[in-house]
Amino acid sequence: MFAYNLDHVALAVRDLETALDDYDRLFGAKAMYREVVSEQGVEEAMIAVGGSFVQLLQPLHPDTPVGRFIESRGEGMHHIAFAVADIDAALAHLKAEGSRLVDEEPRVGGRGARIAFVHPKAFAGTLVELVESSS
Ligand code: CO
Repeated sequence: MFAYNLDHVALAVRDLETALDDYDRLFGAKAMYREVVSEQGVEEAMIAVGGSFVQLLQPLHPDTPVGRFIESRGEGMHHIAFAVADIDAALAHLKAEGSRLVDEEPRVGGRGARIAFVHPKAFAGTLVELVESSS
């Protein structure tokens, strides 16, 4: 069926510089790259951890999904992302199983990858992102 590898764990932070400094100082880990993803209202940084990433998300404005998340729940884990080879097939499978989706169709996320979010209700309260792997 589908190969679901862990792509990244995303953490909502108020200040990307502070968070990156902490990771560097405490773990010697530096961002592989940074990107402003305006469609999602975030600036993101990716820190490589083994074959996966920690994704740090700083909201561009308070009135964005991640901004509202921090306002109501504080900083912390925002979502977990799985890499799938075929995101259309993965979404079709979730739909067929009756999963509630945030994105009915894939959209373009960071690094130009095709992504889709699955509603937290489908996964016991955890927001799940699917990322189509380029390989
Ligand atoms: Co993500």
